[in-house]
Amino acid sequence: MRFYIATDHAGYNVKDFVKEYLENKSHEVIDLGPYSNDRVDYPDFAKKCAQKVVEDNGSFGILICGTGIGISVSANKVCGIRAALCHDSYTATMSRAHNDANILCFGERVVGKGVIESMLDSFCDTPFEGGRHADRVKKIE
Ligand code: RB5
Repeated sequence: MRFYIATDHAGYNVKDFVKEYLENKSHEVIDLGPYSNDRVDYPDFAKKCAQKVVEDNGSFGILICGTGIGISVSANKVCGIRAALCHDSYTATMSRAHNDANILCFGERVVGKGVIESMLDSFCDTPFEGGRHADRVKKIE
């Protein structure tokens, strides 16, 4: 899978951890920044990542801020984006199975590295179920 990843300053500390974890599983990860932990505004990085995911058909995104809230709300303003704020393996699984999420969001201040790994595995390994869920996802647009 190809991932675009971006954070704000409050998600910056786990960005390299996520990149390495995905790359070790043979996924491609494109880092859209930031490249230091200086303060930045999460809507700017959410928009950058969301636009790449929409332009690059079949790609996915990872967005991380302090809580995951601001960056997911922002990403969902971009047409075609289904950014899911997840907290654990279950929500990450369901975000793909039922919502066909194309961006996984979470909060660095909320989850630890073990939970992050389990969310990444669930997100990567779960296909969209389609069927009745496809009709609902279509209505979002
Ligand atoms: C930054 O302090 C923090 O507000 C931001 O990362 C995020 O949690 C907002 O939703």
